[in-house]
Amino acid sequence: MKELREEFYGKLKDVKSVSDLDRLKAEFLGKKGKITARLRSLKDLPPMERRIWGKVLNDLKKELERVIREKREELLDELPSQDPTLPGTPWTYEVGALHPIKVVGGEILRVLENMGFEIGEGPEVETDENNFTLLNIPEWHPARDMQQSLYLDNGMLLRTHTSPFQIRYMSTHSPPLKAATFGKVFRADEFDATHSPVFHQIEGFAVDRNISLSSLKWVLEQIVKALFGEGSKVKFVPSYFPFTEPSMEVAVWYRGEWLEMLGCGMIHPQVLRNVGIDPDVWSGYAFGIGVERFAMVKYGIEDIRHFYENDKRFLDQFRYDRWI
Ligand code: DAH
Repeated sequence: MKELREEFYGKLKDVKSVSDLDRLKAEFLGKKGKITARLRSLKDLPPMERRIWGKVLNDLKKELERVIREKREELLDELPSQDPTLPGTPWTYEVGALHPIKVVGGEILRVLENMGFEIGEGPEVETDENNFTLLNIPEWHPARDMQQSLYLDNGMLLRTHTSPFQIRYMSTHSPPLKAATFGKVFRADEFDATHSPVFHQIEGFAVDRNISLSSLKWVLEQIVKALFGEGSKVKFVPSYFPFTEPSMEVAVWYRGEWLEMLGCGMIHPQVLRNVGIDPDVWSGYAFGIGVERFAMVKYGIEDIRHFYENDKRFLDQFRYDRWI
């Protein structure tokens, strides 16, 4: 018994790692270990001896178990705090995520980018000229009503739509052109289920020789199919905007119904003239997409206010890390 004990302590000195320790433990205390085997052979001894040797062996067993436990803790304490061989663990903290408006807007922009549209930006504070006059929105137009437009003290206003991006882009670039923008727009509307004083639009347009309504329809179809699936389709419904002629609303066939989704048309010749483009040589199309409207239809969201209240239970449904 003494030899066995000495053998154990001799070998313990050579233990350098947890796996060395596991091996040593198996050698003495494992199923076929030295102590285990002796404990098993106790049954062959006469009762008196069995009792004595049983106690000695069991005491030794307990001692070795305790020493091994202590040695294991010592070894684990020595491990470097960053052990690259440990298995991976899931995130223990929460990361941020894209807002659903950013997700849907990004999807639309990606389709446009892939079709060669240059993505640009315009300011949220605009001149009356860019927001209205040059877009052929005359003085008497109801969109100019103080009720809807938010004017600043200096006579400028918060843009009511992203269409002034057309004016800015066309007056600084020469055709052929193809560009789009994504941003906030502002209207003096009260909050309700379908209205918000701030919302998002994507404006896209192209100017070239021989641009036709069918190019416009094709581009919109690509967007709609990317967002609502291959089974969706679009149709034009006649409408009116001062900056397009003809003007259309686009209705999208989705989940068994036609939903009016966005405004578009052929850029009005007067708008082209306003930015120095000859409408006898060039023509163009334009469209304006309400991003909230797209997101609401796509995800079946019935109240626009969900987008701005930042209720984590709502936002969490759009986390990319939940999708993978
Ligand atoms: N600017 C329009 C609005 O905010 C949307 C729009 C309609 C944009 C037709 C366009 C267009 O470019 O061609 O209601």
